[in-house]
Amino acid sequence: MSAGMLAGIEAAPTPNEWNPVAPKNVLVSGITGQDGGHLAEQLIAQGDRVFGLVRGQHNPRKQLLELEFPGITVIEGDLTDPSSLIRAVEIADPDEIYNLGAVSHVGYSFKNPTLTEEVSGKGVLNFLEAVRLTGRTDKTRFYQASTSEMFGGLDYNRPGAGYDEESLFHPRSPYGVAKLYGHWIARNYRESYGMFVSCGILFNHEGERRGLEFVTRKITHGVARISLGLQDKLLLGDLWPKRDWGYAGDYVDGMWKMLQHHEPDDFVLASGQTHSVEDFVRQAFALVGIENWRDFVEQDPAMIRPAEVDILLGNPSKAESTLQWERKVNFEGLIKRMVDHDLALESSK
Ligand code: GDD
Repeated sequence: MSAGMLAGIEAAPTPNEWNPVAPKNVLVSGITGQDGGHLAEQLIAQGDRVFGLVRGQHNPRKQLLELEFPGITVIEGDLTDPSSLIRAVEIADPDEIYNLGAVSHVGYSFKNPTLTEEVSGKGVLNFLEAVRLTGRTDKTRFYQASTSEMFGGLDYNRPGAGYDEESLFHPRSPYGVAKLYGHWIARNYRESYGMFVSCGILFNHEGERRGLEFVTRKITHGVARISLGLQDKLLLGDLWPKRDWGYAGDYVDGMWKMLQHHEPDDFVLASGQTHSVEDFVRQAFALVGIENWRDFVEQDPAMIRPAEVDILLGNPSKAESTLQWERKVNFEGLIKRMVDHDLALESSK
């Protein structure tokens, strides 16, 4: 049919026509983690049907998830098991997939590099293949959780205005390397099969749902316990590394916005500010009235990593202008929110 013959004819709605406010089927891996919790909350409030991929036999996190979000359908599956992902996709029939599942602790990835590669790297390929093999390349939008750890923070690779979508990658851990594979295979499926695949390159995002193994929550939890007389010392690794820290709830909204955009793309989500671990420690102690914080902090050699990312600073201009993404919580607000939460938690025990 020529272009002339099409003139004046209304295009028929295609099955792929997207309405951001219509309820959707959404499949989420990593739903028991920090970002999964924020995302589940947002999707349920919007009226979406949420399916959570949970791995392992009798995973205690499954019960906690079902208690917190009774409306969620739990599907047992594992990013390292392709057939379980095909089954999950068939059950959920998803309009959107958020691949948040990963070995996400950088220090742990040095001790378990092969597992990290299998889950955080090859797991992305397994999930994309599950979408392709079930014939959903035109139907399902896919979010890949990429990370600022892919940049590596080295001197020669550090732009003054912060890393953006065009910056060079130089990962410094098995985690960062695995995530870089995930990032590129996701882009490859977008280019090869025309899939709607978007990658969010997220800088550190924290909050009261954060696990105690990550430095911010370890600090706010320790500070709360020290101020209540429940703990004497806070054991930490290096205090000089700098990170670009934001609030996880704001960043999860950015992920959702990426999948509602009219075309797939990659976006940096960051605060555009960088602070050292020491800045975070000092401000957290100050909130409970302790100025002589050094008396309560000791170095734990076990927390030192074989290679460190010195400094991360992101430039979120593209997400701000294209997606109208905005942050509601700043650095000081984040620390206060976390300290207040941990004071309440520890006082109620
Ligand atoms: N975890 C931890 N525990 N980190 C410590 C400690 C400690 O006791 N003491 C100092 N640090 C330093 C780490 O060496 C690192 O430089 C910094 O604190 C932040 O560590 P984490 O909170 O573990 O986060 P991360 O920056 O390594 O990785 C997080 O952010 C990435 C995005 O940039 C994770 O959430 C990754 O999954 C995410 O991709």
